[in-house]
Amino acid sequence: MKRLALLTSGGDAPGMNAAIRAIVLAGHYFGLDVIGYRHGFNGLLEQEYQTLMPSDVNNIIQRGGTILKSARCKAFTTEEGARQAADNLQQAGVDTLIIIGGDGSFRGAVHLSNFWSGSIIGLPGTIDNDINGTDATIGYYTAIDTALESIDKVRDTADAFERIFLIEVMGRHAGFIGLSAAVCSGAEQVLLPELYPNSQPDVEELVGHIQKAQQIRGKCSYIMVISENLWPGGATDLANQINARTGIDCRPVILGHVQRGGSPVSLDRMLASKLGAYAVEAALKGRTGIMIGECNQRMVEVPFEQTWNKPKELDPYLVRIQQEVFDLVKNSA
Ligand code: F6P
Repeated sequence: MKRLALLTSGGDAPGMNAAIRAIVLAGHYFGLDVIGYRHGFNGLLEQEYQTLMPSDVNNIIQRGGTILKSARCKAFTTEEGARQAADNLQQAGVDTLIIIGGDGSFRGAVHLSNFWSGSIIGLPGTIDNDINGTDATIGYYTAIDTALESIDKVRDTADAFERIFLIEVMGRHAGFIGLSAAVCSGAEQVLLPELYPNSQPDVEELVGHIQKAQQIRGKCSYIMVISENLWPGGATDLANQINARTGIDCRPVILGHVQRGGSPVSLDRMLASKLGAYAVEAALKGRTGIMIGECNQRMVEVPFEQTWNKPKELDPYLVRIQQEVFDLVKNSA
């Protein structure tokens, strides 16, 4: 192998730059030519790439976002798009492509492998942590801390005004950020998609929980963390409904894309650095069609299909203590 290419695709995540840095440094250490495609799979279609030297990755380990830019690319999902990308890789003399992204990007990797014989390796990069085969994804730990910092601030004002706040967090269709942020912030309630696989939360039950909490503790603040895409109309609609039923001030806070930004925390930098370096070593051994993950401090190689073929499970112990032990209503029953 002589020429290694990489790209970042889908939702950017803090730590992607740390992964780029690790790949570039490892690539040069092993004497490879390294290029980076810009704007995700769009760069493959447009032949938009740049050479990446060690000096290009100076001082990026601490930066959020991705120096290669990211995008979601519809054109690439067609057969024509993948054939074009394969031709372009061939022309650019690329032997291995490393894709940093989420499950959509890994599906793209498999699509490309139908038309290109080079080796393709994935690194899990998404704040959602919804990828099987790795304990965590690059960006997840930073997103929890970012959400937490905001929830702690909301708690101050919620306490001062004895208000109810509904805090909507990202995660697409997974509750990893929601569960972690709720446990770490001491939220009174959390609504996660995994807790309602075939149903909706019941507003009367939620109101009952708030009222019981107030009976137990007196009038005080109440924080409910809610995952995006769980409630039609989101946190704003649910807050209005609770407000109408209780007459208590109930405010929505939608954290949104702030959770995607910021300097990566140490755990994300460490994970990205390990995964990036290992990906290059795996490529040198001729591996292909796999995501590199980390489980119990061991690097693992996971076939792409296994990263998305079933929903990733939330930590069952964390769910149990959040739902039972830390639920002040159940705890004082
Ligand atoms: O996958 C990362 C993520 O931030 C999800 O949490 C969220 O649902 C989605 O991307 C938002 O995508 P976009 O930035 O395209 O609106």
